[in-house]
Amino acid sequence: MKKEKLIEKILDLKRKRKAIILAHNYQPPEIQDIADLRGDSLELSLKASKTDAEVIVFCGVIFMAETAKIVSPEKKVLLPVKGVPCDMADMIKIEDVLALKEKYPDAPVVTYVNSYAEIKAVSDICCTSANSVKVVGTLKEKRVIMIPDMNLARYTQRFYPDKEIIYFEGFCPFHHLLTPEEVIKCKQEHPEAIFIAHPECRPDVIDLAEYAASTSGMLKLAKKLPNKEFIIGTEVGLLYPLSKENPDKKFYHPAPEKMLCKSMKKISLVDVVRALENLEYEVVLEEEIIKKAYNAVKRMLEIV
Ligand code: 13P
Ligand code: SF4
Repeated sequence: MKKEKLIEKILDLKRKRKAIILAHNYQPPEIQDIADLRGDSLELSLKASKTDAEVIVFCGVIFMAETAKIVSPEKKVLLPVKGVPCDMADMIKIEDVLALKEKYPDAPVVTYVNSYAEIKAVSDICCTSANSVKVVGTLKEKRVIMIPDMNLARYTQRFYPDKEIIYFEGFCPFHHLLTPEEVIKCKQEHPEAIFIAHPECRPDVIDLAEYAASTSGMLKLAKKLPNKEFIIGTEVGLLYPLSKENPDKKFYHPAPEKMLCKSMKKISLVDVVRALENLEYEVVLEEEIIKKAYNAVKRMLEIV
């Protein structure tokens, strides 16, 4: 079926199903273009908690669709391709969290939303890359546990020299792969460009950045700053909305082949049509897990 026909079908089915389509900033261009809201993890969680749609079609990975279910348990949340994993979320198991809690019983557990529902359920509060600094700042405890991303934890630590952030050694393989050498080379090739890094990057890469920001934070900076050239240190899919929203600016990537998350490219327009037609694949979580995980997500959303 032609692209135009697929889009027509999606619009029609969306009305019929009273559905809303949410897409992460890394999704393929054609998915971003049909979404009702495209955003970073924080914006998408907020939208999922506020919409009055009956069905949420989530174009992203499973932990994102799970978060939508946690904040809107009465709604049907669909992931158009079954169980799209996240390599970082896969790194941590519930036993790892329980072991950290046992070792540091007084330290609250701050969990990056890039984790599965059962991990959120044993956490005190969630955070995203857009608000980790704010979230940790609300905690009175001097010692804090951050999971599962060690790079986000080390980035957040920079803002709190008086706190001790204990972290689990997980990481996003795509962000973690970016090296200072690649950034320096790209800076040499584009001397006018400023470098914005995602907090999931290694500390020695963030040291080279003029700014560190979530994906939507990068979009806001690109729009707001007077600069005309940017080097972008995040998954390569972000170049699409950056270029679309700023046709007069130039965006460079230091390692486009390495920083491509395959999970984020799995969903096609055909999958979205099928999801709306057959109401698949529904995110199903145990009630108890939803209740516990909701406390941690809600605490974050109250701070934003
Ligand atoms: P944000 O869009 O919240 O910055 O998250 C980045 C990411 O890696 C999502 O998988
Ligand atoms: Fe997970 Fe990294 Fe892919 Fe985001 S980019 S979904 S953190 S593996």
